[in-house]
Amino acid sequence: MDVTLKAADKTTAAHRILLLHSDRGPDFQAAGRAVARDARGLARLRKFEGNAGQTLLLHREGRQWLFAGLGEVAKLTRPIFCEAVARAFSELRAAGGAEMALLLPEKLPWPPAEAARYTAEALLMVGYSFRAYRTSSEAPARSTVELVYPGGAAALRRGIREGDAVGQAIALTRDLINHPAGVAHTDFVRREARRIAKAAGAKFQEIRGDALLRRGYRAIHAVGRSGPHPPALAALEYGRRVRGRPTVALVGKGVVFDSGGLDLKTTAGMALMKKDLGGAAIVLGAFQAIAGLKVPVHLVAVVGLAENAVGPDAYHPGDVLASKSGPTIEITNTDAEGRVVLADAFALAREYKPDYMIDFATLTGACRTALGKDIMGLFCEEPGMRRVMEAAGEATGDHLWPLPLWQPYRAKLNSTVADLANAAADGFGGAITAALFLREFTGDVAWAHLDCYGWSDGDSPLFPKGGSGVGVRLAIDVVRRILAGEADARP
Ligand code: BES
Ligand code: MN
Ligand code: ZN
Repeated sequence: MDVTLKAADKTTAAHRILLLHSDRGPDFQAAGRAVARDARGLARLRKFEGNAGQTLLLHREGRQWLFAGLGEVAKLTRPIFCEAVARAFSELRAAGGAEMALLLPEKLPWPPAEAARYTAEALLMVGYSFRAYRTSSEAPARSTVELVYPGGAAALRRGIREGDAVGQAIALTRDLINHPAGVAHTDFVRREARRIAKAAGAKFQEIRGDALLRRGYRAIHAVGRSGPHPPALAALEYGRRVRGRPTVALVGKGVVFDSGGLDLKTTAGMALMKKDLGGAAIVLGAFQAIAGLKVPVHLVAVVGLAENAVGPDAYHPGDVLASKSGPTIEITNTDAEGRVVLADAFALAREYKPDYMIDFATLTGACRTALGKDIMGLFCEEPGMRRVMEAAGEATGDHLWPLPLWQPYRAKLNSTVADLANAAADGFGGAITAALFLREFTGDVAWAHLDCYGWSDGDSPLFPKGGSGVGVRLAIDVVRRILAGEADARP
């Protein structure tokens, strides 16, 4: 981790970030007095309104002051706050600050510990860099940030610890996506899953290679059998089933590389496909955070790991596969492999009898066409759960938008030889037909499906270019909301 955060009552740091509201409260006046006694400083400060997204860098008496606007107190949200923290940090770091202080305003919409948590999350997200393959001559930039709050440092410490856990989980997710496919292969991710389970004191089981065939998980096996490392299912279990405590299953698509299989992708289509384990990476990151935060939930994480490769043993268009939960699948397109992997991953997750099942998957290009890179597609027909998912998306800034499980399109998956086909004959509504395929394997569990992109092109400071980690904060927030009863049926 490249950023260390600590709570402080006072600071002597030469580089300071001041977060200020546009409502110009006492904070604003004090800041003005501190830095702008001379006419020139005042003139520049007057141009700084404190609007969200606005920043101003002032030099005075050997100090650098980075003013960052939060907008009106009444309209401040967690995404606006995190974005302001991230932008301020990256601008001050670019100006040469390595040891900085960040001064929180007195008035915030959250208790101080919560504000500290969001600050820590944002700082770890902006400070992340993937350096595994850089030669040692380029030392990573390290920063220390002292977090200063008018109400005192003590109130911040728990929040910093929590934000740290979340930030490290997001870094784990990003690392898994950023490692090339030759490194982050199925055995690598499976061992990571085991390590995460062990560190969390969680139970772990894995079904790998031929054991998948023996136990009836023939669909995931077919997808992954031609890869250089065997396909596998891994399940992590935190907490236990207790009356009145919900069981939540998170399921992730972990296709460590998607060449398309025999229905091979084009050069451009294949370029980023090391990120096709994005769903599994999100699920493992979220599991680590939720267990690390000791959230009182019975949590199961299942990842389906396979490489969609080309080889003499690759599955073919026209193959018919038996899935673990029953339905047979005609492969009409080997590039629609994620849903086949998830079909068997759902079967394993359902053995834990979850009350809620949420899957994350880089499932379709069609969802990207519909919603772009920054918005996950949400498919969910259970009203309470859908409400929770949407609320969590808004609260965390991991954006999502609902798409329909449009029943009339189910006919597009009819097969002449099997119970259903894995891909429709045309690409229209491709995100919807993919979700309808998944629904055949969910049984009667309350279920939500998120079609994710998993990748950032680096145009926001919170999200450096590479694996984005979008979905981790969402999953954590969803679990908290479920525990708070927000998904329960309402009159
Ligand atoms: N992993 C891809 C989907 C994908 C592509 C996600 C690009 C994000 C960016 C998935 O396995 C896939 O290839 N889907 C096909 C399905 C089609 C063959 C029915 C697609 O979307 O083209
Ligand atoms: Mn594919
Ligand atoms: Zn894929």
